[in-house]
Parts: sequence; structure tokens; C-alpha cells
Amino acid sequence: MHNALMPVTISGPKSLRGEITAPGDKSVSHRSAMFNAIANGSATVTNFSPGADCSSTLDILQALGAEIDRGPGEEGLGDTVHIDGLGMHGLVEPAEILDAGNSGTTTRLMSGILAGRDIFAVLSGDASIRSRPMGRIVTPLRQMGAEIFGRKANTLAPLVFAGGDLHGMRYDMPVASAQLKSSLLLAGLRADGETVLNQPALSRDHTERMLNAMGADVKTQGLEVRVGPSELEAVDVYVPGDISSAAFWMVAGLVHPDAELIIRGVGINPTRAGVIDALKLMNADIALEHERDAAGEPVADIVVRSSSLKGAVIGGDIVPLLIDEIPILAVAAAMAEGETCFEDAGELRVKETDRIAATADWMTAAGVQVETTQETMTVHGVGRLLGGNFNGHHDHRIAMSEGIAGLISESPVTITGAEIASISYPQFWSEIEKLGGTVE
Ligand code: S3P
Repeated sequence: MHNALMPVTISGPKSLRGEITAPGDKSVSHRSAMFNAIANGSATVTNFSPGADCSSTLDILQALGAEIDRGPGEEGLGDTVHIDGLGMHGLVEPAEILDAGNSGTTTRLMSGILAGRDIFAVLSGDASIRSRPMGRIVTPLRQMGAEIFGRKANTLAPLVFAGGDLHGMRYDMPVASAQLKSSLLLAGLRADGETVLNQPALSRDHTERMLNAMGADVKTQGLEVRVGPSELEAVDVYVPGDISSAAFWMVAGLVHPDAELIIRGVGINPTRAGVIDALKLMNADIALEHERDAAGEPVADIVVRSSSLKGAVIGGDIVPLLIDEIPILAVAAAMAEGETCFEDAGELRVKETDRIAATADWMTAAGVQVETTQETMTVHGVGRLLGGNFNGHHDHRIAMSEGIAGLISESPVTITGAEIASISYPQFWSEIEKLGGTVE
């Protein structure tokens, strides 16, 4: 067994076979808690994400007066969370600075909830959060009438919310970001008049689906989303398995030479499932089974088998639909034959860390040639990864990608800062052990 703060060393089993249940989806979990906290009535959320990010959301909602009760769920499921809604106008002024930890979704969606309220609040987070671009939400929220301030000319957290009167507006979003879209939709619920957003490309639509289920006046037509002033009615949510967590096992099963894995209960909402299409483009043996509906979100079991992957071009409108999966897709690209180009991927530079730089850094050390520009990353597939000592870059998805590399690399992979996986997937390292991998 390893100490949580020690580097971990991963090596792979000769044969990788088994079943995994992905943890509850992080995006859906955040929304289920936030939206029910500002709804009328109370709700139960089943299979809530075990990640630290979603705990940050619950802590903030409690600091704003919501009654939240979290306890273990049924066998095989994540926690069950009961939320007593405060109604659209019921949040109370927090006594302390609100701490979003490492969570961009918490910071940006809570900003939409805090904007233009009759309370004073300060929202901050860890060093990563304090360096990520917040001007993209502050500028339009101020245009809607919110009094919001932040460091560096209102572009960086800590953010200060000091009231204002919200009015709807028409807004052309400069980036295809679900966090930005959701932030503005949440503010739009309390604004006078309609808020109309024009997206440059589709991004995940969990907010639109859930707000609709809660009775809000939200309409989508192509790339346009509009919302009018609305009250929300609490709804119970069953959180599907997180496709962004499942993606690590998909790639593990595809690149390991003797593998068959089944990942159960994965959310396959089309605005999240770009990773499946990208892997198919790369010649992956990947199949969906038992497709079903779980409380408004499509779910399936995903079966992957060892595959001879080929390089591909992954760019354009698919990128927002797989944005969090590019670090692990890069592992697939390294094990593929030929070049894989990730294009239009500049947003990766402003995630938990600069994921283009972090991926190029560890993969180069693993013997893979990677070329980068501001917007692109080209991985020259060589069908092998050397092992070595890599840094988790204080980014959960980078550390877990390095962990999957350890399952197939020629010598073991040692990861410093591996505990950061707990931001979205605390059981990640023990799952590797369950599949027969060695974690020391
Ligand atoms: C998320 C949206 C994405 C994604 C993040 C979660 C969400 O960010 O990277 O992990 O839950 O809305 P952007 O919308 O900023 O691209």
C-alpha cells in the first residue's frame, strides 16, 4: 500500500481484463447540487461524484445557507446527497471567503448564481483557480448589470460580488465553453427580460437539460440558447458515470496488447461523447452495450479490446465535445501508428494546468516526439512508451494519463503528486490495482 503523498509507481499486468464502474459524473454532480440549492422544494441526488471538486461545490452551497446532507449510497454507487432548496432568492450572505478549491466549474457556475444578488460574497480557490481566466465570465456578467470585481482588471480570482440589477442581453460567446454558457444562463434566470447566447460551437448541455427538467424557460435552437426569468422546482437526479473518468480505462483497454475491459454505466450524452468518435477514427475496437436513459441523460456500458490504433486529425467542432479527454487521447496517439494532430485546442492551455505543455513535457520524457503550437499538439505515434519519473503537474487528468501509461510502458512509471487524481477520481489508483496493475 502506498502513502497518499508519496510518489506512486505503476506497472502493468500481462493481461488487462475486468469490469469497472465509472464514478458519478463531475459536471452533472455540480449542477445537481447548485440548481437544487436555488430551487423550490427538496431533492435527492444519487451517485454523486466522489471528487474533491464536487465537495467544494457542496461546501460553498452550505456556506450560502443551503441544508445539505451527504451519506453513502447503495453498494456500487457514489454518495447520496439530499438538498433542501432555498428558492431562487434565498441564498444568505456568507461569513467567509467561498473556497472553490481546484474547481473551475464551481468558480464559473457559482459566479452566475452569485451575480446581481443582494449579498456580498468573495469567491476564490487554489493557485490554479487564481491563475485561470475569469474575464470571460466577469465581462458579460457585468454587461448584464452585476457588480463584480477581481484582480488584474477583473480578470482573475478572488472575485468579489457586490450586488447589481441583472437584465437579459444578447451575447456572442467568444469561446465554446459550457462553464461560460452555464454561468450566463444561471444569471439569466434572475434577469429582467430574455438572455440569448450564441455559441461558436456546441459544448456540453447538462445545464440546459437539467434546467428544463426543473421547469425553467430554456430553449435551444442550433447554436443559440435562450433563457427567460424562471423559478426552479427541485428534481431528483441520478448521476451517470463520468465519461471523462471512463476515458482512462477506454484508452488502457485499447492500447494494452492483451485487454478486454467493460466500463459500466457511462454517460454518453452526445455533447460529451466526442472521445468515442475520436477513438473510432483511430481504429479503436470500442462498442456500446445496454444503451438506456438515466433521468434525462443517455447511459451505456462501454466495451474496449486491444486495438491497432492509427493516427488521426482531431480538430474543429469535435474539440469541445472531448476537451477534457485530450491528455488521455494523447496516450492513445503515442501508441498508435502515425501522427495524431490535435487542432483548435488552445483552451487546453487554460485548464487546471497548461495541458498542452504538461502533456508534451511528460511524453517527451517517455520517448515520444510531441510538437506544439499555441493551438495544436502533434503526437508522433511510435507504438511504445518508455517509463520514467513524471510529474502530475498538479492536474488530475495529467496524473491519471501518466498512470495509464504505466500500465503499458516498457519500464514502470513513477508519478510525483499522484494524489491530485482525487479531484475527480479518488479510487483511480485502487482501480488500477483491482485490474491487476501494480501501484507501489
Ligand atoms: C465543464 C466544462 C469544461 C470542462 C470542465 C467541466 C463543465 O470547461 O473542461 O472540466 O462542467 O461545464 P469549459 O466549459 O470551460 O470548456
